[in-house]
Amino acid sequence: MKVQATTLSPLATDADTVAVAVFEGEGIAHDVPGEQLAALLESGEAKPELGSLAVTHAEGRRIVVVGLGDRSQFDPERARVAAAAVHGRSLELSARSLCWEVPHHVGDDVVAGLVEGTVLHAYRFARYKPEARRDEVSRLIVSAHHDVAEPVRVAAVVADAQNRARDLGNTPANDLPPAALADYAQELSSRHGVGVEVFDEEAIGALGMGAFAAVARGSDQEARLIRLEYEGAPSPRLGLIGKAVTFDSGGLSLKSREKMQEMKFDMCGGAAVIEAIAALAELRAPVSVVGVVGATENLPSGSAVKPGDIVTALDGTTIEVNDTDAEGRLVLADCIAYARRERCERLLDIATLTGGIVIALGSTHAGLAANDERWAAQVLDCSERTGELVWRMPLHPEYAEMVKGRYAQLTNHTVRREAFPVTAAEFLHHFAGELPWAHLDIAGTAWDVPRPYFDKGATGFGVRLLVELARRVGSGAGDP
Ligand code: BES
Ligand code: MN
Ligand code: ZN
Repeated sequence: MKVQATTLSPLATDADTVAVAVFEGEGIAHDVPGEQLAALLESGEAKPELGSLAVTHAEGRRIVVVGLGDRSQFDPERARVAAAAVHGRSLELSARSLCWEVPHHVGDDVVAGLVEGTVLHAYRFARYKPEARRDEVSRLIVSAHHDVAEPVRVAAVVADAQNRARDLGNTPANDLPPAALADYAQELSSRHGVGVEVFDEEAIGALGMGAFAAVARGSDQEARLIRLEYEGAPSPRLGLIGKAVTFDSGGLSLKSREKMQEMKFDMCGGAAVIEAIAALAELRAPVSVVGVVGATENLPSGSAVKPGDIVTALDGTTIEVNDTDAEGRLVLADCIAYARRERCERLLDIATLTGGIVIALGSTHAGLAANDERWAAQVLDCSERTGELVWRMPLHPEYAEMVKGRYAQLTNHTVRREAFPVTAAEFLHHFAGELPWAHLDIAGTAWDVPRPYFDKGATGFGVRLLVELARRVGSGAGDP
């Protein structure tokens, strides 16, 4: 979808469909000739309740009147929801070009929300269902009295990146093995001036990433370590680390058959890192970022890592692998150690790490863990700004104690089946050490989130938050 901003009034554009908003207790800001919209409101056909829709015609266009609810409650998330509703109705009306009249006295974050809600709702995964490709709204015009070109541009770039992350997540494991993900990252990055280096399985072993290599051993598909680097300006070097297990069967600690097919989504953290960095480069954001994505399958076979095996991570830590299904932390341990070696000054990892976080938080919030108050506060603030919600979980030496190994320094599986999301975070904390680090467990938010602007499948969770966080680091706001 092509997205553009204008200071022309909607009826002065060539859009075939116009969205006009109304808040509770307020009239229509601009009526079309003949006071049609006011009459529609008066008759009760158009309502100011959030998401309510009515359609009329004027000057050869379709006019969609959308309720935004109470102005004092209105926020960017409600803008996304309203924009999704308008886009849905526009499709039904066979609209091709849609112009949103931005309501008066709203901030740039609401303008961004309107763009995001439209672009995210327009997403379809039609790669294997050509018949599902249908006519689309190919142009979105955002009309406001003042210049909104910048928030519109940023929101469009970021929402497109989020949709690409959804494509990666939805693509099945047979068509997106680690090597294909690495090729994709290379191709995407070359378009935007991101440096990419890819290490194959032999190189991963040679580097000393014994934990990552152990996970990779069971599969015939070769693992890849994907290192991305974008230098938009000197700034504290931000390390973004993503879990990209392109299929997680559990390995020899095999998962049960129910929902195993969902484990093609176990690479969504890595996808968010790749696409966030591509978006930052496209935006020419003034920030310095290194992305470290660990891509592998987790499968059982004659060469697979076995429960009880002891492996040595890149930083020399020895780990007992007591459950081969706790593979994400093994991959991330080496990726975090690698990011430290690359002199990153702040870290954030993002991973579909535990089923426990789904039990705890459902699909509304992702789990956050952090070893640094200011860094945690920045992540929380970016989360609120972008609507990609996170909720902080605790760290505590007693949890750290639970990941100490019996025969090695650490175990990837605690004896007591308790607090899985937190002990998983403590496992990663060991590798981050004192460096400001935050961890996002997106197992509940990465796919099948019932929000009006999503359909079933991958959500691209994290792209918006990571971009916002990186831009924040680049601007030096709230430096630790
Ligand atoms: N990829 C899974 C986590 C997961 C499970 C994400 C369900 C989304 C839905 C991860 O590798 C895993 O298997 N975690 C285990 C860890 C356990 C064995 C310590 C879990 O959470 O059950
Ligand atoms: Mn697993
Ligand atoms: Zn996994």
